[in-house]
Amino acid sequence: MNNEIEKLDSLEKLRQVDPSDFLSMIASLPEELRKAQEICQATKLTLPKKVRAVYILGMGGSGISALLVKSILEDQLDLPVIFLRSYVAPASLTKEDLLVAVSYSGNTGETLGVVTQAAKKKVPMVFITSGGKLAQIAATKKISIFALPSGYQPRAALGFLLVPLLYIFVSLGKAQNIEENLKGAATLLDKMKKEVTAEVPTRQNEAKKLATKIYSTFPLVFGSPYTFPVAYRFKTQLNENAKVLSHANELTEANHNEIEGLFDLKRGQHNFSVTLLRCDKDEEKVKKQMEITKSLIGAQVGGINEVTSRGKSKLARVLSLVYYLDMVSAYVAILREVDPAEIRAIQKLKKELSR
Ligand code: PA5
Repeated sequence: MNNEIEKLDSLEKLRQVDPSDFLSMIASLPEELRKAQEICQATKLTLPKKVRAVYILGMGGSGISALLVKSILEDQLDLPVIFLRSYVAPASLTKEDLLVAVSYSGNTGETLGVVTQAAKKKVPMVFITSGGKLAQIAATKKISIFALPSGYQPRAALGFLLVPLLYIFVSLGKAQNIEENLKGAATLLDKMKKEVTAEVPTRQNEAKKLATKIYSTFPLVFGSPYTFPVAYRFKTQLNENAKVLSHANELTEANHNEIEGLFDLKRGQHNFSVTLLRCDKDEEKVKKQMEITKSLIGAQVGGINEVTSRGKSKLARVLSLVYYLDMVSAYVAILREVDPAEIRAIQKLKKELSR
């Protein structure tokens, strides 16, 4: 434990593993939310008067914003919201719909593939990007664009990617109280920042503590139907920041299959840890299943790590979990002595694809 504490608490050692200070970029989510609001207020958005369905297109660190927004707005949305992540536009996508393409770089092949097909079908579109080919298409075809600042990594630019999506739903008349809830969420994250940043020592820092519990395990992450997108975000942040495999699933679905594998684990003969995301806004029946799940598998997995959301609105609750778990993923990277900013395999793949 002393060795772990030294790695996390010595700012000098921390900088050696994280030379570009990726931790601070992840920690700047509250500031990003505010800057993103300014960008949205300055953006001229042209939308159809009526849309049948909203399709949101995006991969990896960009695409996750769509899952999170759907979860945040689920109980307000009275139209279908469909998430796309492939090269092919579905036959159901027509000019009665709206396609929102989210790509931080603006150069992601899958996103550009669907946009090209959608343009041929004359589907109304909006882009959320910092530039690349998507920005060029927007200029040529006069498509509304939320122009994001450059210099970020997509998975550290969540505020910039998420807020424009929320604004689109506000502009469509499908989301209420977003400005007020964003303000509340940013204030909550300011407070959380003081609790989870690198300067706060492990003994007072819950994010560092969770990282010490899971960094040498294969992390399994479970959320409710409402918090599952956050569980999935945590899995992807563990993949990209800490370079570890991880798995995320949704309760109650996992209780109809995976629970058998978990129930059968032999204590001390496996390397899994379980993190469970909890939220007051979860259905009572889901909460009950979570309690039963804990009693069925807790002993086998050496105890379950529970992370509880904070905040008043659904938006604040989702972002409080994302923020805390993003920090955990970066601390797992530090404990594993890997640079959280580097994504060598993804970059190599993109280079090969561009040939
Ligand atoms: O986090 C990352 O860097 C990746 O998951 C990217 O977001 C993903 O490859 C898609 O790229 P972009 O976000 O630029 O569309």
